[in-house]
Amino acid sequence: MNLPDILKAEVAGKTILVRGDLDVPLTEFRVQNSEFRIDDDTRIVAGFPTVDYLLKSGATVILIGHLGRPEGKVQAEYSLEPIAKWYSQVFSIRYLVFSIGEFSGWKIGEKLVVLENLRFYPGEESKDSSFVQKLSWLGDIYVNDAFAASHRDHASIVGIPKLLHHFAGLQLQKEIESLSKITDNPQKPCIVIIGGKKLETKLPLVEKMLEIADFVLVGGLIAKEIEEHHPIYNAKLKLARQNKDATDIAQVSTDEFVRVISQAKTIVWNGSMGKLSSKFKVQSSKLDQEDTEEGTRRIAQAIIKSRAYSVTGGGDTIEFLQKEGLFDKFNFVSTGGGAMLSFLAGEKLPGIEALLQ
Ligand code: 3PG
Repeated sequence: MNLPDILKAEVAGKTILVRGDLDVPLTEFRVQNSEFRIDDDTRIVAGFPTVDYLLKSGATVILIGHLGRPEGKVQAEYSLEPIAKWYSQVFSIRYLVFSIGEFSGWKIGEKLVVLENLRFYPGEESKDSSFVQKLSWLGDIYVNDAFAASHRDHASIVGIPKLLHHFAGLQLQKEIESLSKITDNPQKPCIVIIGGKKLETKLPLVEKMLEIADFVLVGGLIAKEIEEHHPIYNAKLKLARQNKDATDIAQVSTDEFVRVISQAKTIVWNGSMGKLSSKFKVQSSKLDQEDTEEGTRRIAQAIIKSRAYSVTGGGDTIEFLQKEGLFDKFNFVSTGGGAMLSFLAGEKLPGIEALLQ
């Protein structure tokens, strides 16, 4: 794929709007003052090389992105402030989070600015043309380094590149290169494992994956949803049963999944098999003290043991692997969850298409 490479752009003295993957898991740690701490910074670490390169090349960077799903309303728990703080520590800069309105008068010479969560504005998801225009006026060049959000048809993903010279960031290029190795020539048997949340994104992908994989193993809420509301009759599909509290995959299903995984030569995995907990979470209820991660842990270990070419990804999956010290045991860890599955299923991602035009 011939993506326009940011390394080939003239960036010195220019202002670059970088759409990053800033959607990282947070935990509230000081309830009264509402302060949030980053549980896992893998996605922002992955975006660091592009921002670093641009700053070292003499550009000014305006970092834009989303966090969670605040549905067009300002909500403190979805502020990008903790992410801006992270950048301020890494680059030793003053940290700044501007809302788009406040930002229009910006002329104070900062080299790196983080804009507030774009999803605080309804225009981000509706691709409102005046919102797209306001954003594009802020920069000379647009860079998409947000692979994990490139399956979204939103203003900052597809709107801005229509108005500005556009390029692919370094992480986005790495994702496409690494994932293309699987789409070009997957070693068989190829197994796809899907779990976790975001039913509406992943449900259609289960059917797509059945067209390309030898087996599709589905756990968690998605398995339940297929079983109860969207039956799919296909011998390649294996749906996990849940334990009696419906908090984790049942042991009998884990055993079955582990057997299938052991035969695989290529494995793609996104999403947990049960409830995951944050590493900072204060455990309060009895349910919190139960280990609901055992099924997910066994699946992760079985993938590693299989020696298949393994690709995994997605915010919650990454956080789990980091917490368990298993992150480095996979051949490739994508920053994307839904985006990774969509790309591997052969779908055209709106964000990638926008860069190719
Ligand atoms: C993700 O976490 O997969 C991306 O940030 C996209 O988030 P979304 O599913 O809320 O669009």
